[in-house]
Amino acid sequence: MSIAAYISASMEKSSWIRKMFEEGISLKTKFGADNVFDFSLGNPDLDPPAKFFDVLKKFSGETVQGAHGYMPNAGYPHVLKAIAAKVSREHGVSISADTIIMTCGAAGGLNVVLKTLLDHGDEVIVTKPYFMEYNFYIANHHGVIRLAESNPDFSLNIDNIKKAITAKTKAVLINSPNNPTGRVYADQQIEELSRMLEDYRGKGHIIYLVSDEPYKEIVYNDIEVPSILRHYSQSIVVNSYSKSLSIPGERIGYIAANPSCDSIDQLMAGMILCNRILGYVNAPALMQRIVGELTDVSVDVTPYRRRRDLLADGLKGAGYTFPMPEGAFYIFCKSPIDDDVKFVQHLLKFNILAVPGSGFGGPGYFRMAYCVPEDVIKRSIPKFKEALEKLD
Ligand SMILES: Cc1ncc(COP(=O)(O)O)c(C=O)c1O
Repeated sequence: MSIAAYISASMEKSSWIRKMFEEGISLKTKFGADNVFDFSLGNPDLDPPAKFFDVLKKFSGETVQGAHGYMPNAGYPHVLKAIAAKVSREHGVSISADTIIMTCGAAGGLNVVLKTLLDHGDEVIVTKPYFMEYNFYIANHHGVIRLAESNPDFSLNIDNIKKAITAKTKAVLINSPNNPTGRVYADQQIEELSRMLEDYRGKGHIIYLVSDEPYKEIVYNDIEVPSILRHYSQSIVVNSYSKSLSIPGERIGYIAANPSCDSIDQLMAGMILCNRILGYVNAPALMQRIVGELTDVSVDVTPYRRRRDLLADGLKGAGYTFPMPEGAFYIFCKSPIDDDVKFVQHLLKFNILAVPGSGFGGPGYFRMAYCVPEDVIKRSIPKFKEALEKLD
């Protein structure tokens, strides 16, 4: 084998989601797509808002010289300005274009932040359960992931985060609304976490708080995602349009750093360099121009909320338990048996595809992505019930 041993090993162990995707193809071929209940993929299925297509048409019809050329690595100045105004409005803080960088989605943004912050062996604390790609993103930049258990309702356990801090801790990475739990961390928890991190800063140890927020707009019942920028000086937000505009294939997002970060100019210059040298160079030009005009637009979450309620009510009625998700499009459900992998395999017998919680550092649970039509959810409920009844 000529490829790197690390990649070869990663391919071996990576992605339950991929495994379920392959299982799904095989089940769909055997039973027909309509008879398979595929909750494995977090792929937004709502159409982008109409205004996205209007602006896309407008820009794709224009033949302005240089419109598809390189621009500053951080992004078009007018787009940075528009995003800064949006972030200031949404977070209730004053952010200028100087602390915004346009990125290739949240994944690109996180890699830029981590490359800029991490020296060899530096540690990043992540709360469990979590988006497994963080393992790769942190390892990409020679960092070490340190896991902290959450509370049983998946809220932050600040004591556990504190216990995970060592002299090498460079950042705490949170994700709210959370994949896989759908939990939105409460303002009071963010405040408490910020106070704890501020204590470390007072003692000369800067620990960045990085918030991965691609689901920020996908929230229900008027819940708001608290702003880390408002609470903590050394904070960096990573966001994207993958879910809020339903355009994950277009790879567009942004980083917003708190202007109060120590040595903010150096931090920004570092991140801009990393956007370039990671090979992104800059975020896609056309998409930058489009999202710069869509600062007050996002998908209508009503269908996601209806699906959440349908699936949650159906699962509860069938005898399953889970903390009610407040955002994103996932339910993280308690496995009726300890072995979540075995239970997910059992679900396959009823043509239901889910992902074992072990794939998110949350054994004993399984994740369902409800970005599927309502009809699929409705027809799946008797199958979930049957699966529970036929469990031996
Ligand atoms: C928690 C989390 N972070 C980051 C990403 C990557 O998002 P993007 O498509 O914006 O790179 C995802 C994608 O599913 C995610 O669930």
